[in-house]
Amino acid sequence: MMTISSLQPSDWALAYAIETRSHAYPWSEQTFQSNQGERFLNLRAECDGQLAGFAICQVVLDEASLFNLAVDPAFQRRGIGRQLLSELTEQLLARQVTTLWLEVRESNSAAIQLYQSLDFNEVSRRRNYYPTPTGREDALLMALVL
Ligand SMILES: CC(C)(COP(=O)(O)OP(=O)(O)OC[C@H]1O[C@@H](n2cnc3c(N)ncnc32)[C@H](O)[C@@H]1OP(=O)(O)O)[C@@H](O)C(=O)NCCC(=O)NCCS
Repeated sequence: MMTISSLQPSDWALAYAIETRSHAYPWSEQTFQSNQGERFLNLRAECDGQLAGFAICQVVLDEASLFNLAVDPAFQRRGIGRQLLSELTEQLLARQVTTLWLEVRESNSAAIQLYQSLDFNEVSRRRNYYPTPTGREDALLMALVL
């Protein structure tokens, strides 16, 4: 059984462990902690009693930015990422947010497929934005009109 609720300070250690397991280039712990607080709408997904994933989203007036989305590799491909984004968009709509923005590596086909299936559109591209083991790669800037 899966439940979505607000990410709490008591979740940060486990959430950060998911961050390091799921991303090839994880945030530092300091960056993770600085992306919490009243400007953020951060959600947690619990599956079978365990923290399984999270979404980190900053809200500024009527715009929001998804800064991070991660599902523990042990729980991926069970609909948790989709459920986190669906709950997030509902909560943003309730706050009268009109646009949700995000950036994603152009090689991250799993995430891009998820975002496209939820009607995000590619808006622009930041050239050579992310490091890779062999150089740099572009970021796709995507937006969802709520
Ligand atoms: C991207 C991520 C959050 C998806 O989470 P998830 O819970 O596994 O995704 P879901 O099970 O909800 O999948 C929803 C859809 O996304 C797409 N998708 C997810 N994983 C995929 C994969 N490995 N390959 C291809 N498509 C994939 C599919 O369209 C899928 O729908 P389907 O299962 O009906 O085919 C997860 O893979 C992850 O944490 N990746 C590492 C961190 C990351 O890249 N975050 C995004 C940064 S912008």
